[in-house]
Amino acid sequence: MLENKKIVVGVTGSIAAYKSLDIVRELKRLEADVVVVMTENAKRFVTPLSFKTISSNEVIDSLWNKKSMPHIDLGEWMDLLAIVPATANIIGKLASGIADDILSTITLATKSPVLIAPAMNVNMWRNPILHKNVSTLKKFNFHFVEPDTGELASGKIGKGRLATKEKIIKSIIDILNPKLDLKGKNFLVTASRTEEPLDPVRIMTNRSSGKFGYAIAEAAKKRGADVTLISGPSTLDPPQGIEFTQVRTSDQMKEEVLKKVKNTDVLIMTAAVTDYKPESFSQQKLKKTKNKINLPLIRTDDILSSVKAEHIKGLKVCGFSLETSKHIENAEKKLKEKGLDFIVLNDDTALGSDTAKVIIIDKTGATEKLPRTTKKELAEQIIDRIKAA
Ligand code: CTP
Repeated sequence: MLENKKIVVGVTGSIAAYKSLDIVRELKRLEADVVVVMTENAKRFVTPLSFKTISSNEVIDSLWNKKSMPHIDLGEWMDLLAIVPATANIIGKLASGIADDILSTITLATKSPVLIAPAMNVNMWRNPILHKNVSTLKKFNFHFVEPDTGELASGKIGKGRLATKEKIIKSIIDILNPKLDLKGKNFLVTASRTEEPLDPVRIMTNRSSGKFGYAIAEAAKKRGADVTLISGPSTLDPPQGIEFTQVRTSDQMKEEVLKKVKNTDVLIMTAAVTDYKPESFSQQKLKKTKNKINLPLIRTDDILSSVKAEHIKGLKVCGFSLETSKHIENAEKKLKEKGLDFIVLNDDTALGSDTAKVIIIDKTGATEKLPRTTKKELAEQIIDRIKAA
């Protein structure tokens, strides 16, 4: 699986450094060519000799003791850099663009993908500064294997333990052998919420964050699909390499969906579209009075029903449904009325969260419960189900 792949393993100063020996051994067993780069602090935990013996290659531990320039040479040589374990320190340095030692300099100098497997104390992992650094790196397309929860070196139980060897090796394989099973397919995804203006300063909207839709767009893109994402207001950054359209109101979303859907193989409507809008828009800011006010609301158009009316051949349509009562009954009703192939049912605990637990219902009535996990993981599973249909 990794024959002839050139992998640099960066080891930093964490107690988990000894676990990298096993990872390097496994990479070698899978026939990768491995060079280990160690920081000064890593050498306090494991000797370079151990890594040299297991990798069958010289360990690089300084910018200065070689005739050539290891950061440029290695940066160009490698197919992937895996920093295992990665301390809060290296994550902070990389997020700030600091290159003050061999590993940070190589990371900055390479164009190859970088995988980071953090390992640290639970309080460090929970620190918002660390989280900001992790999201910065994710925005620059660094890959992460999240740490596991369990007993830490301090004896405390919490999140921060280096992910298992199996998870780290799987991530390396996935990055180097991307599954391109959606190549040639056109995906249209809607995300986040729509908002309806009442007057120049006020809006009607809901709390949908867009995390599910953005995760689905990103997953489809990674698997080779051509993806268009139509998003209502959201604080998220659009995934790279997709066509992105920003909309605000449900009318704008409908217009964009109907414009794009004709060339689409799969439409996934995760957007929480406002069902009502004010009957009229007040050009001037509405002034408060002492009395209660009545605000006439009218229905917005149902976008999925408009798509159904277009009868697009071969189009698979997946809707989303958020229910707080009679969950399956209500979702099945929407599936039928809107002519969907699938509906993904979730509840209000999913709002704004990185995780969700969902039930996928297909048009035959078959239901499948997926346990709570990240929206990114669910995005893959939802795409798998749609693809298999
Ligand atoms: N949807 C749509 N157009 C609308 C409202 C919703 O296309 N005007 C889509 C959503 O994107 C979602 C699905 O329909 O994929 C279900 O949305 P939801 O708001 O849960 O259901 P509604 O049909 O609006 O019913 P209710 O608000 O009564 O739960």
